[in-house]
Amino acid sequence: MGTRASHGLLFLLFLPLLRPRGASAGSLHSPGLSECFQVNGADYRGYQNRTGPRGAGRPCLFWDQTKQHSYSSASDPQGRWGLGAHNFCRNPDGDVQPWCYVAETEEGIYWRYCDIPTCHMPGYLGCFVDSGAPPALSGPSGTSTKLTVQVCLRFCRMKGYQLAGVEAGYACFCGSESDLARGRPAPATDCDQICFGHPGQLCGGDGRLGIYEVSVGSCQGNWTAPQGVIYSPDFPDEYGPDRNCSWALGPPGAALELTFRLFELADPPDRLELRDAASGSLLRAFDGARPPPTGPLRLRTAALLLTFRSDARGHAQGFALTYRGLQDADDYPAPSKGSAQTPEASLEGANVSCSPRPGAPEAATGGAACWLQVKDPQPWGLPGAWREVGLFGIAGLEVWPCPVLPGTPRLRV
Ligand SMILES: *[C@@H]1O[C@H](CO)[C@@H](O)[C@H](O)[C@H]1NC(C)=O
Ligand SMILES: *[C@@H]1O[C@H](CO)[C@@H](O)[C@H](O)[C@H]1NC(C)=O
Ligand SMILES: *[C@@H]1O[C@H](CO)[C@@H](O)[C@H](O)[C@H]1NC(C)=O
Ligand SMILES: *[C@@H]1O[C@H](CO)[C@@H](O)[C@H](O)[C@H]1NC(C)=O
Repeated sequence: MGTRASHGLLFLLFLPLLRPRGASAGSLHSPGLSECFQVNGADYRGYQNRTGPRGAGRPCLFWDQTKQHSYSSASDPQGRWGLGAHNFCRNPDGDVQPWCYVAETEEGIYWRYCDIPTCHMPGYLGCFVDSGAPPALSGPSGTSTKLTVQVCLRFCRMKGYQLAGVEAGYACFCGSESDLARGRPAPATDCDQICFGHPGQLCGGDGRLGIYEVSVGSCQGNWTAPQGVIYSPDFPDEYGPDRNCSWALGPPGAALELTFRLFELADPPDRLELRDAASGSLLRAFDGARPPPTGPLRLRTAALLLTFRSDARGHAQGFALTYRGLQDADDYPAPSKGSAQTPEASLEGANVSCSPRPGAPEAATGGAACWLQVKDPQPWGLPGAWREVGLFGIAGLEVWPCPVLPGTPRLRV
C-alpha cells in the first residue's frame, strides 16, 4: 500500500510529462511528436536521462561507465544501439521499453525503465481506462494466450473496425473513434503488461487498454493525409513469408518526401518497390542488401504505389517510413540534422481522408469521426486460440497466470 501511495504522489509530480498521447482524444487529427517508431523504443535516441516514476526518477549511469554490466559503450565501441559516452535511456536488448542502469537500489536492482512519454510509435493512441461496464471499446473482443499487438490489430481489421485495444496481456477489443472520443486517458505507465505472445511488446494493463489504429502493419491502404507513417506488414511483429502488399500514397502536393525510420529486410528477395502511381514506372527499389538512404528521400511525383514482397523464408522486423506531401521537390529547405532524431511524426490515419463512418451518426466530436478504409484483402489466420466472448470487466479476472511486469527484475546484469 505504501508503495502505491508513493506511486500516486510521484505520478502527480510527473503529471505534465506523462500526458499520454491521445490524451486530447483524437490524436488522429493532431499528430504529435514521436521519438520512436518501434513499439519497444529500440530506436529511441532522445535525451531523457532519468528513470520513470516507477523507477523512482533516478539519474541514469553513463553507458561508458558501466563496464561491470552487460551493456556498456566501453565494451561496444561501435556505438550500436545508441550507446555512448552519455546517460540517455536506451533499449539495447529488445526489452519492452528504454531503460538505463542506475546506482544500486534497495532491492539491489541495477537498472530501471525510463517511461518516456514521447517514445510511442505513431499509430499508438495511448493508454486508456477500461472499467469494463460498459467496455471502453464497444466492438468485438477476444482473448489469446499468444496475443501480440498485431494479432489484435489483424483481428479488428478483419472485423472492419478502426481501432484495436490490447489489455492485460491477453485480451483484445475493437472499437471506433467515437469510443475514443469518450475514452478516459490513463497514465502511459499504467499500460505495463507484457503481451503473452511477445516478450518485447506491451499489451495494455490491468483495466487499461493500449489503443492502436488498425492501419499499423496492414497489408494495403490508401494514404492521402498530408503526412503519415507506413509500416511493413505485420508490424510491430516481424513480417511473415510470402507477403505481397501494396499501398497507394497520394498526399496533397506535387512532390513527396519519404524518410525511412527503420529498415530491416532479411535478404535481397525481400523487396520494397516505389512506383510512380500514374505511369507505373519503377522509381526506386530497396531490399535486404540495398537499404534506402538514411536521410529524407525526395521524389518528383505526386502519387506513389509502394509494393512489398517477401520470399518463402522472409522474416525480419521490416520498415517504418514517414512521408509528407510537398508543393514542389525544391520548395522546402532540407530539414536540419536534428530532425532525424525528433521526426515530425504523424498520427494521421491510413486512408485518411476523413469521412463519416458508414452507418454511424456524426460523432460527438463535432463531425470529426473518421472511418479508415484499411482491410486486408485476404483473411489471415489468427494465431492462438481465440475465444470470442464478451469480456466485461476483465480487470478483476484472473484467467491466466500473471505475466512478468516491467519493473520486475528480468535477467540483466
Ligand atoms: C540530464 O541531461 C541534462 C541535459 O540534457 C543535464 O542538464 C542533466 O544534468 C542530466 N541529468 C543527469 C542526472 O545526468
Ligand atoms: C485509393 O484512392 C484512389 C484515389 O482516391 C482510388 O482511385 C483507388 O481506387 C483507391 N485504392 C484503394 C485500394 O482503395
Ligand atoms: C502480388 O499481388 C498482385 C496484386 O495485388 C499480383 O498482381 C501479383 O501477381 C502478386 N505477386 C505475387 C508474386 O504473388
Ligand atoms: C478512403 O476512404 C473513403 C471512405 O470510405 C473512400 O471514399 C475513399 O475512396 C478512400 N480513399 C481515398 C483516397 O480517400
